[in-house]
Amino acid sequence: MVERTLAILKPDCVRKNLIGKVIDQLLNAGFQVTGMKMLKLSKASAGQFYLVHKERPFYSDLIAFMTENRVVALALEKDNAVKALRKTIGATDPAEAEENTVRKLYADSKQHNIIHASDSPENAKIELDFFFSDRELIDNIS
Ligand code: CMP
Repeated sequence: MVERTLAILKPDCVRKNLIGKVIDQLLNAGFQVTGMKMLKLSKASAGQFYLVHKERPFYSDLIAFMTENRVVALALEKDNAVKALRKTIGATDPAEAEENTVRKLYADSKQHNIIHASDSPENAKIELDFFFSDRELIDNIS
């Protein structure tokens, strides 16, 4: 079933000029880009986006990192997009990521890990709504 998910190209991806390479890898993996937006997150909006991690020891570092530079939000479509994207990007920790995944190729650490992907279809809907209005997404899903 064609599904939609959200990716964020994180500040390290933008800083290292990897936006094109990562998007190319996503396209080669069969994703269609149906929305794309570059923006700089405020501390308040990054804090809201990652609220689920509020009690984790890395939360304040995560918010500082996600607000240090611009990010690129991507709406992506593919069969089973949520699972497929997580497979394409690899494990959170690049040391544990499979060969040729985005994080294995480009990430420096668990925190500086280049890309975020929604972890469930329910969260994908919430996270897409966080970045995009309905009219900003090209409607390919019939
Ligand atoms: P992401 O997919 O954006 O979701 C939450 C983020 O928290 C995760 O990627 C990592 O960048 C970060 N994160 C998760 N675990 C750790 C950790 N143990 N130390 C630092 N950052 C982490």
